[in-house]
Amino acid sequence: SNVNITVIGSLNIDMVTETSVVPGQGETVIGSDFSSFTGGKGANQAVACARLGAKVTMIGCVGEDAMAQQLKEALEREGIRTEYVKTVPHKPTGIAAITVSDSDNRIIVIPGANHCLRPEDIMDKRDVIAGSDIILIQQEIPLATVEAAIDLAHELNVRVILNPAPATRLPQELLEKIHLLTPNEYELAIVTGEESGGRGFNELLADYPYPLVMTAGSDGAYYKSSGMEQGHVPGRKVEAVDTTGAGDTFNGALAVRLSEGAELGEAVAFAVAASALSVTKLGAQSGMPLRAEVEALMAE
Ligand code: RIB
Ligand code: NA
Repeated sequence: SNVNITVIGSLNIDMVTETSVVPGQGETVIGSDFSSFTGGKGANQAVACARLGAKVTMIGCVGEDAMAQQLKEALEREGIRTEYVKTVPHKPTGIAAITVSDSDNRIIVIPGANHCLRPEDIMDKRDVIAGSDIILIQQEIPLATVEAAIDLAHELNVRVILNPAPATRLPQELLEKIHLLTPNEYELAIVTGEESGGRGFNELLADYPYPLVMTAGSDGAYYKSSGMEQGHVPGRKVEAVDTTGAGDTFNGALAVRLSEGAELGEAVAFAVAASALSVTKLGAQSGMPLRAEVEALMAE
């Protein structure tokens, strides 16, 4: 695969606490382990794309500290271009405080430098956007920057995948310019402003007027093509150690296969397999599979 993917998004250092008991309000518990990893939805998706064979360019911001170096080196080890990862003076690199328990994970993100990625930082990279097969964006950067990137890609006729995480309500004029939206079921309700409406995701999916892939954890993913045809790829049974970054692996895998010209259903099946493999290790990027591993799982 020789596709070019540009990822516009966040870079965070993940501070991961493992515990079998999640504390309630006012409670103190003793956890089992602590580790730190390179993360951030943007950087994670960039790594996922690179492991699966794409040529990847990352656009984002880091702070003026040692963590910034660690994040850039992690990307460079994967062959990702980091020349557009800007260092913001006097700002800390983004941080994610993550609690991993047997039942789930909980994440608090402190954006730091990630919130300094401006629309101008995208507008002055016209050639980078124009030379990409797909642009992959998440929402850990300012919404104005997300909008500028979508507008520019639309103008240049380059496809955009928006992973609306963390989700906000998005205007119709923006949604219609996106090639593919990839929320989970909670995010879909937020994006469409239906979070208190009590309607199930089946209805939301049926009503959404543009192409969509909705991830559903162990239930796999539901999708709707540009022809408004719906499909479901069931989840794969795996021993989950840490689901952090499963969505990022999914998005990266989807971007790679769609760039290569795969049909949506085929790309979703590949992404479900890739994300299943990713949850078997602690840390978002550590478990992200290589191309051959995903192909082996799909051939089983
Ligand atoms: O999607 C997982 C990521 O969300 C973590 O790596 C963390 O940094 C947060 O951005
Ligand atoms: Na993982």
